[in-house]
Amino acid sequence: MSILRKLALGAGMMALASTSALAAGMTVGFSQIGSESGWRAAETSVTRMEAEKRGITLKFADAQQKQENQIKAIRGFIAQGVDAILVAPVVATGWEDVLTEAKEAKIPVILLDRGVDAPKDLYLTSVASDQVKEGKVAGDWLVKTVGSKPCKVVELQGTVGSTPAINRKKGFEEAIAGHANITIARSQTGDFTRAKGKEVMEGFLKAENGGKNICAMYAHNDDMAVGGIQAIKDAGLKPGKDILVVSIDSVPDIFSAMAAGEANATVELTPNMAGPAFDALEAYKKTGKEPEKFIITESKLYTPADNPKGEYEKRKGLGY
Ligand code: AHR
Repeated sequence: MSILRKLALGAGMMALASTSALAAGMTVGFSQIGSESGWRAAETSVTRMEAEKRGITLKFADAQQKQENQIKAIRGFIAQGVDAILVAPVVATGWEDVLTEAKEAKIPVILLDRGVDAPKDLYLTSVASDQVKEGKVAGDWLVKTVGSKPCKVVELQGTVGSTPAINRKKGFEEAIAGHANITIARSQTGDFTRAKGKEVMEGFLKAENGGKNICAMYAHNDDMAVGGIQAIKDAGLKPGKDILVVSIDSVPDIFSAMAAGEANATVELTPNMAGPAFDALEAYKKTGKEPEKFIITESKLYTPADNPKGEYEKRKGLGY
């Protein structure tokens, strides 16, 4: 039995006892963004596992990072008459029509890990982190670490128009506001991928005196940070020392980098959004009472003081 399966089975025993009879037989459509990052792969694995554990039939659709594919998939789920729909929305805008169609078909929709700019009555609940807080935690760490030293930051943003890119930028800027010694010198999207993170960082290094002017790299996810770390090494500098590295997700590869002294801080985003989502859905189907509109997951900071080797070992089998 895999580690993931054991964990999922163990953690879910209580919930399983009370709600499995209700959940068993439910069919849920899941419109996933794609597989742009290690975190995304883990979220997909955990969602499949949570569904299996509860006897839910999961219909999975990979949108390959395209909103139009997500809208098509959701319309398909509505046509099939599924019991509920999970969606991780790639960008914030453009959802109102399709969410209204789901509402009219009386199919509850649950948002996973990203938000939408749409009326709240169009979805049952949203399970996500506080993304402004994630950016703030990363920025607070940098403020504390550099003290009064001048620090030029380069920022690798997530997918343009996505709520984590918008909010993680906002939170970081809030944290450094009032600290005139820390400035964001350059900021560009790396689309949450390792390859684009590397490419964008290569451009930043060239533009900033081979990297000698850069004090820190802030990446909206760990995959872009890992790509950026490679670019820093290729430029002959030491990531984690010459250029501080702070990012978000807490995937196994960032803990390997941290154990090697090449990354300094990461803010955890749990890949288990489906567990709380299915709990809320099961309770709603049972009682008819709507859950809280926003179910917020934790945002914990990890640094080299938190046993990065151990954290790597703990997570490496979790589908990342
Ligand atoms: O929406 C969550 C973000 O999406 C994760 O931080 C990132 O890795 C993913 O692509």
